[in-house]
Amino acid sequence: MSPASMNIATVLGRRVWDSRGRPTVEAEIRLVDGSTGRAIAPAGASKGMHEALELRDGGEHLGGYDVRRAVAGIRERIAPRLAGMNAGDQEALDRALIELDGTENRRSLGANATIAVSMAAARAAAASDGVPLWRRLAGDRAVDCVPLPEIQIFGGGAHAARRVDIQDFMVMCPGASSADEAFEWTAGIYRAAGLVMEERGRLQGVADEGGFWPAFDSNEEALEALMTAIERAGRRPGEEVVISLDVAASEFGRNGVYRLARDDSERDTDGMIELLSGWLARYPIASVEDPLAEDDPAGFAAFSREHGARVQIVGDDFLVTDAARVRAAAQAGTCNAVLVKPNQRGTLSETLAAWDAARAYGFGAIVSARSGETEDTTICDLAVGWGVPQIKVGSFARSERMAKWNEILRIEEALGDRARFAGREPLRNLPQRPAEPSLTA
Ligand code: PGA
Ligand code: ZN
Repeated sequence: MSPASMNIATVLGRRVWDSRGRPTVEAEIRLVDGSTGRAIAPAGASKGMHEALELRDGGEHLGGYDVRRAVAGIRERIAPRLAGMNAGDQEALDRALIELDGTENRRSLGANATIAVSMAAARAAAASDGVPLWRRLAGDRAVDCVPLPEIQIFGGGAHAARRVDIQDFMVMCPGASSADEAFEWTAGIYRAAGLVMEERGRLQGVADEGGFWPAFDSNEEALEALMTAIERAGRRPGEEVVISLDVAASEFGRNGVYRLARDDSERDTDGMIELLSGWLARYPIASVEDPLAEDDPAGFAAFSREHGARVQIVGDDFLVTDAARVRAAAQAGTCNAVLVKPNQRGTLSETLAAWDAARAYGFGAIVSARSGETEDTTICDLAVGWGVPQIKVGSFARSERMAKWNEILRIEEALGDRARFAGREPLRNLPQRPAEPSLTA
């Protein structure tokens, strides 16, 4: 039982602005002991159809993105309901939010309102305890694991006006001995990627998550440029550094038809698997997210049968941080890891349930930011406090991303000698070093 000093005195909602210059929801909770907690909802661009809904005002104003209704819901409905409840009892608070909303997909209050409130309550409780949120979330468990970062170098898909079809070309540094070293390697790779783009006359700024704008003639050219950048940075691909892709295939595939505009090709499920299999054979790719569309579980299963033993296959749009979907995927063998995004479900308790399901089934898991982000760093606390071994935040530029990476550094420092970098551990079966890449193979 948490002490009565953690009882909620006030709940505020306010409109703030995200990294795309769009409105989003901030919640601020004050406890009777004077402690406060504040959190901001992020926003996706490539959303799964089964995600909890964010409440937007619609209409002409601000492109329909305004959140005045979601903020009003916090003031008029959530605040009176939560007043007097104990911020230390996250499950009871989250249950109250779910019941107050009363819909299947959170369309009444909006997942943007409920996740901001849920996270703000957790922050207020930690403040009352006088400990960092990650420490409070760990409860009695010892905290030692620093998650392996997944960091975008080129951003495509819905985050770059579909300049290339594939959404994220990322690196992971399992060969590093700490997050600090992984970031140093990544900084070198990011810088080298910028120089490569400049030399080719293709430097055109960055996409939504800070990765370089993908001015490439084909999807595979991005992979080849990424290999060049890794090597230019003096790192050994496949050993020190591996590649991770978020195909985000729901953005260009439906009903078993995949239209890759950049490659000027239309493929069925088998053709899509063949394309990805070729890349897996030619590049040191250790993780592939949403390789097929969310409506193609048979495709996921076929891809997993072929590659699941040595590659991490991640469900994002496919699993939408839903515990029941994680269990079903484990039983059906459709993938072997889950992306954990708090605003896909709308409360911390539901998000934790997805990670609990993943752990129970030996699934991999990656706590993830959204393409629309802010200075909020709560996901860092979730990854460390819950012991999730991987974290995905976007690229290595722009402060809404760097705020998270810098927070991981502070946590690693706070853990001191106890800190254990996840390194290779989350990728139990790293791919063998493939043959030299070739654009014509
Ligand atoms: P989103 O993209 O936040 O636009 O959904 C992130 C991802 O697909 O992982
Ligand atoms: Zn994704």
